[in-house]
Amino acid sequence: MKKLNCLLLLFCCVHLAQAQNKVVLTKSSTTHLINRNIYGHFAEHLGRCIYGGFYVGEGNKKIPNKNGIRTDVVEAMKKLKIPNLRWPGGCFADTYHWKDGVGPKTQRPTIVNAWWGGVTEDNSFGTNEFLNMCEMLGAEPYLAANIGTGTPQELIDWVQYVSFSGVSPMSKLRKQNGRSKPWNVKFWGVGNEAWGCGGNMRPEYYADKYRESSTFMSGWSNDKKIYRIAAGANSGDLNWTETLMKTIPLNMMEGIGLHHYAVIDWNKKGSATDYNEEQYFTTMKRALYMDELITKNEAILDKYDPKKKVGLIVDEWGGWYNVEPGTNPGFLYQQNTMRDAVLAASTLNIFNNHSERVRMANLAQAINVLQSVILTQQQKMILTPTYHVMEMYTVHQDATFIPLNVKSEDYELGNEKLPAISASASIDSIGNVHITLANIDMNKEQEVSIDVSDYKLTNVKGRVLTSAKVQDHNSFENPNKIKPAMYNGASLSGNSLSVKIPPFSVVVLQLK
Ligand code: AHR
Repeated sequence: MKKLNCLLLLFCCVHLAQAQNKVVLTKSSTTHLINRNIYGHFAEHLGRCIYGGFYVGEGNKKIPNKNGIRTDVVEAMKKLKIPNLRWPGGCFADTYHWKDGVGPKTQRPTIVNAWWGGVTEDNSFGTNEFLNMCEMLGAEPYLAANIGTGTPQELIDWVQYVSFSGVSPMSKLRKQNGRSKPWNVKFWGVGNEAWGCGGNMRPEYYADKYRESSTFMSGWSNDKKIYRIAAGANSGDLNWTETLMKTIPLNMMEGIGLHHYAVIDWNKKGSATDYNEEQYFTTMKRALYMDELITKNEAILDKYDPKKKVGLIVDEWGGWYNVEPGTNPGFLYQQNTMRDAVLAASTLNIFNNHSERVRMANLAQAINVLQSVILTQQQKMILTPTYHVMEMYTVHQDATFIPLNVKSEDYELGNEKLPAISASASIDSIGNVHITLANIDMNKEQEVSIDVSDYKLTNVKGRVLTSAKVQDHNSFENPNKIKPAMYNGASLSGNSLSVKIPPFSVVVLQLK
């Protein structure tokens, strides 16, 4: 009997040891930087993202602004070290004619935003306002060009207007509109979702349209080489990626897009705040699918571009739920809870871990739309849990990628399971190692043992984003319910780091 008890005890110990989460920081011979552009944002003419979000109009006396741009928003976005901002869409891009949005504001025509709520816009926020705002933010602009209803001439004119320093009708127009030196826009999207709202094109047809448009785009800027991004696939549509890679010569394309949203069901998206564990689990499952998607896209890119010249650009990602009750369904205004924090953290870990090919990504969308980092209500502004994750992860921007071996416990629900732990790591230019971890498990604290023997580290400190309930969120009444706190759950003993992460929480560690 005694022998049996001992055996049982031994079995339990072995079983527990095997089940533990283990992460190993490895040294790699091929190192690359995690491109800061992975931490990019997206601002469409949609709901209150531009009007009421970034822009409140010149002369607005109630909301502090500079040239109509909210100063509170600029300060908050600068803390995220926002590397780039995509504009004006989205679906809106392929109906947008840029010339409607330049010149004296009183003479700009009004337009109807047919995609988003059918609202009439006065075009007071256009090219000059956007590019000047990017300068205020310290962000690279990423312009999404109109390929659906625009012409190649309109596109050439736009490229010239923003980037040509010589004498031409478009540089003359820019000077007339108050801007002498060009902005030198590097990043250009050649259309958006061409398979859907961008024109319902077949990949073969779009690939030809792309070849045509991109031919005329280069050569207008002396300072920066243009970076042209082909409108990418709808989530798992690998044939789209394959056809584009096969048809577009590598010297005509610098990046290829990919859009993927974590949606429970397009017909039953569920509430952003009032959800159960099954809905939480499904959202996380859809979010983690990003890893498989990128892996499959990478395989196609490797086939046609083995030297990895073309970047994979995930220029729309995030969680998508029902709009907040009582708000315009066309405005896509949703709240943001700890579910979104875990979603953002694990997605950013995926991007970091694929950063040899993933060179840019854009969270949809910056303010008041989908998985926002900021919500506004007149003069008030709040930061969402997703904002705090983006801020905690700034440490990875342009840092050298550290490959990880991760062995995770399962987070189980019914017959399904997900890895409980998501992680990524980098080392910055002054030798600080950063590890970001998310515990996806909604119920259990996870203990992670991290082997750092390949690095000489003696000191650890960290921050955690956590809350009592997964549905918790910041509100205009309680704006600081969720914010990062000092983290005491890590201890370093020799080459082994032990970390305890509360359920549905995010941790960033700094080691020296
Ligand atoms: O981000 C909202 C919309 O989602 C974009 O306009 C479109 O590109 C995508 O379908």
